[in-house]
Amino acid sequence: MLHHRSQQQFELARQSLAGGVASSTRVNKALGHPLYFERAAGCRLWDLDGREYLDLCCSHGATLLGHGDERIRRAIEKSLDNGAPCSYENADHAALAATLCEVVPCLEKVRYTCSGSEATMHCLRLARAFTGKTKILKLEGNFHGYHDQVMFSINTPADKLGAETSPTAFPASQGMPAALADQLVLVPYNNVELLAAALAKHAHELAAVICEPIYYNAGCIIPTAEFATALRELTTKHGVLLIFDEVLSAFRMGPGGAQEYLKITPDLCTLGKAVGGGYPLSAFGGRTDIMARLMPQGDCQHSGTYNGHPLVVAAALAAVRAYLEPGFYEHIRLVGEQLFSGLNQLFEKHHVPAHVRGLGARFGVYFAQPGIHDYRGALTHDRTKMLKFIAVAIAEGVYFHDYGGAACHHGFCAATTRADVAEILSRLERALVQMQNGE
Ligand SMILES: Cc1ncc(COP(=O)(O)O)c(C=O)c1O
Repeated sequence: MLHHRSQQQFELARQSLAGGVASSTRVNKALGHPLYFERAAGCRLWDLDGREYLDLCCSHGATLLGHGDERIRRAIEKSLDNGAPCSYENADHAALAATLCEVVPCLEKVRYTCSGSEATMHCLRLARAFTGKTKILKLEGNFHGYHDQVMFSINTPADKLGAETSPTAFPASQGMPAALADQLVLVPYNNVELLAAALAKHAHELAAVICEPIYYNAGCIIPTAEFATALRELTTKHGVLLIFDEVLSAFRMGPGGAQEYLKITPDLCTLGKAVGGGYPLSAFGGRTDIMARLMPQGDCQHSGTYNGHPLVVAAALAAVRAYLEPGFYEHIRLVGEQLFSGLNQLFEKHHVPAHVRGLGARFGVYFAQPGIHDYRGALTHDRTKMLKFIAVAIAEGVYFHDYGGAACHHGFCAATTRADVAEILSRLERALVQMQNGE
C-alpha cells in the first residue's frame, strides 16, 4: 500500500478528531484519507511513508516562498528570542502596514486578523458601518471564507442554481440562519448587464460589492476588462463600496495583487495566505476615511487577542520583503509559463480532454471545454476525471489538493526551479499514461 502509515494515522486520528481531521476539507477525496506530511522543504513534501512529493498545493497558496524559508525562520526566531510579547503593539505592526500601503494600490490604512475569513467578516462590518446600509452584493460562486455572512452560493449544485437573473443563495453549510441569505444580492461573474441591473435596483440597500478580483476559487477566471471596469464605475456611481477579496490573489502575480494587475482600485480589500508567508496572518484595509470608522477612532469594532501576533507579523514582514526583491515576479512568470504550457502540451499529447489556465503562481486544471468565465461554466468540469488525475499524480509524486474534484486553484511556490518543473512534468506524464491506461 502506497500510503500505509497515512491510513494508519487517519484511523488513530478518528478516535479523537471529529471526522479524523483538524479542518473539514483535509480528507483528500482522491485518496479517501489525508496525506500526513512529516517534513517539508522548498517545493517538496515527505509523507509518513517517506515518499517525496513536489507540492502543487503550497498550503492553498500561503507558502508562496516555499516551505521552511530561511528568511522567515530567522524573523520568527528573532521574535521568539525577544519573548514574542503577544496581544501588545510592537514596531513591526506599523512597519508591515507601511510596506503594504506602499505596494497595494487601495491601501491607505491597514488592520490585521488571523485568517482570511475574519478579514472578510470585519471588512463587511466596516462597509456596513460606513454606509449605514446592510446588504452585500456577492458574485455567484465566489468564495470569501467560512463565516455565516458569505457562505451562500458557493459549491451550489447545478439543480439548485436558480435562474441566472436571480441566482439562489444556496447555503453551503447547515447551521447558518436562513435570514442571512436575505442580506445577499447575487450576480453571475463577468456579467456586466446583470451587475448593472442589480446595482440599479438595490443600490439604496447595498453596503458593498465583494468579489474575488481573480476568481481562483473556480480555477483561474480572469474578469473581462468590461466587467472589471463596470465593478468600479457602477459601484462609484451608486454609492456602494467595492471590496476586492485578495486573500488568494494578493502577491500572486505582482506585489500589488489583482488590483495592480487589473488597474482597478477598490475602496477596501482583504489580504491573506501569501501575506503571512505560511503563518496565520491576514489583513484588511483601504481608504483612510472608511478605516477611520474603526474603534478607537470610530464606532466599528475590530479586535482580537491574537490579531497581529508578533511571530506572524515578523514572518509576514520577511515574506513581503522577499516578494519585493528584484527578479521575484520574473521567476514566478517564467516558472508559470513553463508549467502551464508544459502541462497543456502533455494533455494534448496524451489525448486527455483537459487544459490549464493560470495567472501568477496559481492555476486551474479544467476537464472541460476552454472558455469558462463564471461559476456555471465551471460546473461543466468533470470532477470524476479530476479526482482520477489527482490520484495518479499523487501516486507519481506530485501533490494536488482535491477540492472535491471541483475546478479550483492549484499552485507552485517561488522555491520551484525550472529543473523542478521539468521533474513535475515528467512525473505528471507518467501519471497521465497511467490514467489513459485506466490503471
Ligand atoms: C478568496 C478567499 N477569501 C477568503 C478565504 C478564507 O481564508 P481563510 O481560509 O484564511 O479563512 C479564502 C480561502 O481560501 C479565499 O480563497
